[in-house]
Amino acid sequence: MNIAFFDTKTYDIDSFKKFISDDINIKFYETKLNIDTVNLVKGFEAICIFVNDEVNKEVIDKLYEYNVKVIALRCSGYNNVDLKYAFKKIHVFHVPSYSPYAISEHAIAMLLTLVRHIHKAYLRIKDFNFSLNNLTGFTLHGKTMGVIGTGKIGKAFINIVKGMGMKVIAYDKYPDYNSNINYVSLEKLLEESNIISLHCPLTKETYHMINKDALEKCQKGVIIINTSRGALIDTESLLEGIKERKIGGACLDVYEEESDIFFTDNSEHIMDDEILARLISMPNVLITSHQAFLTTEALESIAQTTINNLISFFKFQKCENELCYDCGKREECQRKRENKCF
Ligand code: NAI
Repeated sequence: MNIAFFDTKTYDIDSFKKFISDDINIKFYETKLNIDTVNLVKGFEAICIFVNDEVNKEVIDKLYEYNVKVIALRCSGYNNVDLKYAFKKIHVFHVPSYSPYAISEHAIAMLLTLVRHIHKAYLRIKDFNFSLNNLTGFTLHGKTMGVIGTGKIGKAFINIVKGMGMKVIAYDKYPDYNSNINYVSLEKLLEESNIISLHCPLTKETYHMINKDALEKCQKGVIIINTSRGALIDTESLLEGIKERKIGGACLDVYEEESDIFFTDNSEHIMDDEILARLISMPNVLITSHQAFLTTEALESIAQTTINNLISFFKFQKCENELCYDCGKREECQRKRENKCF
């Protein structure tokens, strides 16, 4: 099995190298996959990609031409792959769940840091400044948390915040009525929540779901947490809301223009992205670099599932974690019958 691995970081090599054997050869490329780099896949039957590789129609045509059989995403979100266009050309696999706890715990870590000013206290104490002025936070117990998207991560997040004594309301396009989650309309969630946390996928429908109109419906002082995908939020409107003091704070692990900035050291560069620079300058905005998944346990689980997906396909020509735009939509879904999409 020859795999071309894109957007490689040192922690990827550490977690995947345990699986390299005589049967599995991985070539690690630092570059991201896009139309300019797609020629690197020549001679490989599988590619392994991450959240900011771009698999659009043009790239898929090239992959098909070069006889690539499989795209193995080493993440759960797949908004960067044109699944419809890949259908019947190249099989696409993902890692549906590797650690919903890693992501939900990161969301909580960001929230607690922001509302209790831990990031400021840390810097003060490093400077032997033990003053408490301007560090007054607020208590989360009793506040209303609005959760958008109640899948694996949303549910893990709800369990944590319920344990903290928060009231939870949720919105999901496909509510899980077997759970004891208190579902409300999106509008009611926006109106009633003190804090809103996003845990739904990025789709055409959810693109910029937190926009100017949505923010206008929110309570003054609302805190927005996004550990899902950047483009769920219209960042310009978010910034305006913060400047107008309507939004009390934001915890952002993802950003809609993150692809050329996040995951890399830009400390020697002048930041061209004015919106991001302005957000970073805000005292009530906390940004991490798409880090929520980054725990030892999650990395190990990602590597294990990705390699299992590939082995399953190349040995048995099917994979339970295959994705296709058609899956489950029709009664006659081939996946249901034959455990593969085409
Ligand atoms: P999931 O598939 O288990 O849950 C997603 C939920 O969103 C489902 O309940 C679904 O019904 C709901 N949903 C779909 N369309 C919706 C809409 N229009 N409005 C409201 N809800 C909608 O996915 P999971 O594992 O919980 O992951 C959620 C997202 O978290 C992923 O799509 C991914 O973008 C993001 N993620 C971020 C990571 C990070 O490191 N920051 C790591 C892993 C995932």
